[in-house]
Amino acid sequence: MWVYAAELAELARRKKKRVTIGEDAVALFLVDGEVYALADVCVHKGRSLSRGTLWRASVICPGHQWAFDPETGRAEDQDACQPTYAVEVRDGKVFVDPVQRVTSEAT
Ligand code: FES
Repeated sequence: MWVYAAELAELARRKKKRVTIGEDAVALFLVDGEVYALADVCVHKGRSLSRGTLWRASVICPGHQWAFDPETGRAEDQDACQPTYAVEVRDGKVFVDPVQRVTSEAT
């Protein structure tokens, strides 16, 4: 089941957006033309990833600068993984599957 989340044009301008999907706060990021969705609440200490930045195709948390792979949610040099969501873009609209995915933390 896909849930409408945002307009692609808006993401193209701002590169990131916080949305609510069901009960979850979700951070959308546009990286190299692809849209990614991660749980907005950081697995480390709960800061909002959508307030972070993008750097070299990683999502940088504003809390303690952990760098997350936006596709897998894996945190660079950490044993932690941010939940992600499947994304589909149709006719300029971004849809998110509300079922959280958690990639194995083992690398
Ligand atoms: S709260 Fe995200 S890195 Fe610490």
